Amino acid sequence: MEPRLLALLALASAAIAGPITVRETSSCATECRISNQFRYIPGNTYLYDYRVDISTSMSGVSEDSATLTLTTMAELEVLAPCEMALNLRNTRLVHSQARGGPKVADREDYFRRSLDSSTLRFSYQDGVVEHICIGNREEPWVMNIKKGILSAFQNSMDNVKESQNVTETDVTGTCETQYKPLISGYYSDSVRKIKDILTCTDRHDYRTIVQMVPYHVPSELQSIPVMKTTHECEQVFRRGDVMTSATCTETHVYRPFSNQQSGATTSVKQSLTYKNYKTHVSSRQDMIYSKDSLLFDHSATRPSAEQARRQAEEKLKEICESTAYDVRPESPRLFSDLVTALKALDIQTLERILNQLKSKRLCPGNEKAL
Ligand SMILES: *[C@@H]1O[C@H](CO)[C@@H](O)[C@H](O)[C@H]1NC(C)=O
Repeated sequence: MEPRLLALLALASAAIAGPITVRETSSCATECRISNQFRYIPGNTYLYDYRVDISTSMSGVSEDSATLTLTTMAELEVLAPCEMALNLRNTRLVHSQARGGPKVADREDYFRRSLDSSTLRFSYQDGVVEHICIGNREEPWVMNIKKGILSAFQNSMDNVKESQNVTETDVTGTCETQYKPLISGYYSDSVRKIKDILTCTDRHDYRTIVQMVPYHVPSELQSIPVMKTTHECEQVFRRGDVMTSATCTETHVYRPFSNQQSGATTSVKQSLTYKNYKTHVSSRQDMIYSKDSLLFDHSATRPSAEQARRQAEEKLKEICESTAYDVRPESPRLFSDLVTALKALDIQTLERILNQLKSKRLCPGNEKAL
């Protein structure tokens, strides 16, 4: 337990880079590079179906997997050259059940209202989402979900027909990213985008987009543990025109349990599919007050120090009890909750908890764990 716990403690330090305040202005882009690869015409709105499925399973322990699905219509409006806006419509949130068909999430109404009610402005430079611009205050989890959509939309290649390695910032962090052309057809080009997750910075406490939702998922989906992660996308473009689809897959394998046979695996599949376009926009270029990057906003997850101490102690107790004899399907979720709680603690509190473990005031009955 101790080396494992220490590894968890090492994750406890996290840095955040928040939005920067700007002088009041109505334009989001500070410059506009001439766009030649992609063509989104000012005054048009481009409609995409967006779907994300998050499924978690404990292979080797149980065959069950739990899935949470978000679907929405993403409307990308081109307000002016390099000035775009994202609106969501008809957002749905559904999860799988152990028995029976899928079930609408308990607080779906609140979820939909929060996501569908506000516009997210961003500066778009020929494929790259340069920054996002904030007029009204948005809840961090709402921003994070929208940043996830824009991350799938982003392409940093200078030429979609040539391989290129770039450093790219999106919701997964700032990462070395490899772009490779796949197929060039008569009218379209497809490319693969692969992130080298080990090179990423700004992802100390990255957890996947949907987890930040203030909604209790009665399953493993609530949190994703510290893991081995892979991230890959395939994007298709109509030549010299718009993106027609993007499919991204991210898998997380929770290492503490991943020996040969068993491992907690979470996979996140995102897809963005072009539907059609309208020849008008509905958003205005209102004043903006701050700018932000596509990086994940962690402030949604930060509990108070006292709450965090209590949560950490409770989680440790639960883990000790549930792992007394073997590893249960709920264990990765508990570890992940523990990591979240530990991150909010200061060093004195961490030491106190470690001492409680050493002196067996916490986990007295669990000899093996200690
Ligand atoms: C990109 O990086 C990969 C892995 O380091 C390398 O194999 C590949 O040749 C690079 N591609 C280009 C175009 O530099």
